[in-house]
Amino acid sequence: MYNNRKSFIVKSLIILCLIYFAVHVIYSNGNIITELQLSGRSLASLDTQNIETAPLIQEASGVQITTSNSTKLQPSDPVVGEEKLPAPPPPERPKTEPTVSEKIKEITQCLDKPFVPKTQQRGDYWVLYNYIRAERTFKCEETVTYTTHADYSFMDNLVPLLERWRAPISIALHAPGTDFAYTLESIAHLRDCTSSLVRELVTFHIYFSTKHVPKEVPKHNVLDEPYNCSLTPPYLNVSSDQMYKAQKKLLYPVNVGRNVAREMAQTHFILPSDIELYPSPNISSKFLNLIATNTGPLQSKNPKVYPLHLFEVSANSQVPVTKTMLKDMLSNGTALPFHKNLCPGCHNIPKAKEWQLAPETKDLHVFHVGKRNGKFIHWEPIFIGTHSDPLYDERLSWEGKSDKMTQGYALCVLNYDFLILDNAFLVHKPGIKIYKKDSKRAMLAGKTNQLIKKIIFPELKVLYGVRKGCAV
Ligand SMILES: *[C@@H]1O[C@H](CO)[C@@H](O)[C@H](O)[C@H]1NC(C)=O
Ligand SMILES: *[C@@H]1O[C@H](CO)[C@@H](O)[C@H](O)[C@H]1NC(C)=O
Ligand SMILES: *[C@@H]1O[C@H](CO)[C@@H](O)[C@H](O)[C@H]1NC(C)=O
Ligand SMILES: *[C@@H]1O[C@H](CO)[C@@H](O)[C@H](O)[C@H]1NC(C)=O
Ligand SMILES: *[C@@H]1O[C@H](CO)[C@@H](O)[C@H](O)[C@H]1NC(C)=O
Repeated sequence: MYNNRKSFIVKSLIILCLIYFAVHVIYSNGNIITELQLSGRSLASLDTQNIETAPLIQEASGVQITTSNSTKLQPSDPVVGEEKLPAPPPPERPKTEPTVSEKIKEITQCLDKPFVPKTQQRGDYWVLYNYIRAERTFKCEETVTYTTHADYSFMDNLVPLLERWRAPISIALHAPGTDFAYTLESIAHLRDCTSSLVRELVTFHIYFSTKHVPKEVPKHNVLDEPYNCSLTPPYLNVSSDQMYKAQKKLLYPVNVGRNVAREMAQTHFILPSDIELYPSPNISSKFLNLIATNTGPLQSKNPKVYPLHLFEVSANSQVPVTKTMLKDMLSNGTALPFHKNLCPGCHNIPKAKEWQLAPETKDLHVFHVGKRNGKFIHWEPIFIGTHSDPLYDERLSWEGKSDKMTQGYALCVLNYDFLILDNAFLVHKPGIKIYKKDSKRAMLAGKTNQLIKKIIFPELKVLYGVRKGCAV
């Protein structure tokens, strides 16, 4: 009797220790709580599809629990009743050089995100997040996501973009009213009748104003029927007056699209860009190799982004593949720095001349560390960054211009370093822009400037503070 009680107490103590240990592992493993909350939020959204994808949610929030075998929670693990505790130490793993991905994970401490469709309101808009998903999924450390926005009339850019980028793309499409059906057909055509990279890598989100909801919004399996590839794709040669957006004189809510695409990206590093800007090849892997070196300016305590130089090329030119080819085209005049004719100050990059003269080298490096001040106070850089960078102000439209200026101000006040990359660049779809007078746009731009000056800028000063040399 006495012995039985003693062994009962010993067993109870062992069980208590095990419970304490398991709880400790869960909490110190971090952010499971956040993950659960995140997936909880997706569950709370309207979409009935979430019911079908429930296992996916579990998988996503379970990622943190099962990434490494040593912290795996197996309910059957605590061998209740056996007195062979404590458990033997885990076997020594042979020390090998960590892979680039392992280094990125270590440096960024990033977390994988749920990848589920959801229908949610966002201000005055309905958003179909992850409406049509890429077939491949990515771990947060694995690659870089190109995030962008468009309407269906720009979707001819997707394949040339993909052929150079060859990494995930997250795209938010503005599709109000009758533009919605053409948008879906365009997606179907791209997935069924063009490069297989579209299915593999591109995730489409769709959004429209609550005042311009399409008549019908099919559920996600709408694209199960193969598209008839002998039909002309709806995104070719769209004249703007055949679009619902133009008929109803709607503005293009560029920053809603930018933010939606950015927030849905699965990877830690993102390249928020415009769909007509084609990157030089292999940026994503070269960039991660650079980050993995974790030396020099990469170790600065300041927050960092990695701007790319922008160029445009004349209508019948090829898009340059290497910096060497780009330099040749700059010297024979078939390539120009971006918007040199439209707005020379907007994309003027620190040390631009030196960059253009510097010969191409192997791999990617930081060419120069710049700031958005002095001569570059109105710089609108396009850069590789992360989800922690400030988002874009959703009150600003494309037509009103200055749509990236408020983000630029925040980056300046937060003392961001701009680590300009040496052998990587973006080239606009061929065709050099010339200045066209547009009085309606000029009027809207004037109104936008007032909105920024009177309302948004005072808000930014409250939220981010002020710093000498920073301006919107
Ligand atoms: C986890 O365990 C499984 C089987 O025991 C093994 O195949 C796998 O390589 C292990 N993974 C890690 C990250 O140690
Ligand atoms: C596909 O479209 C073409 C051109 O309109 C048409 O001739 C053909 O019958 C269609 N095929 C199918 C299977 O619907
Ligand atoms: C689109 O327009 C271009 C020139 O403007 C023309 O060459 C091309 O054939 C047109 N494509 C279609 C599908 O109509
Ligand atoms: C991009 O990377 C692939 C595989 O690493 C390589 O085969 C290809 O030549 C590279 N392309 C360029 C333009 O560097
Ligand atoms: C300019 O240089 C590029 C790259 O070397 C070449 O392909 C193109 O033909 C040249 N164009 C002219 C007009 O010289």
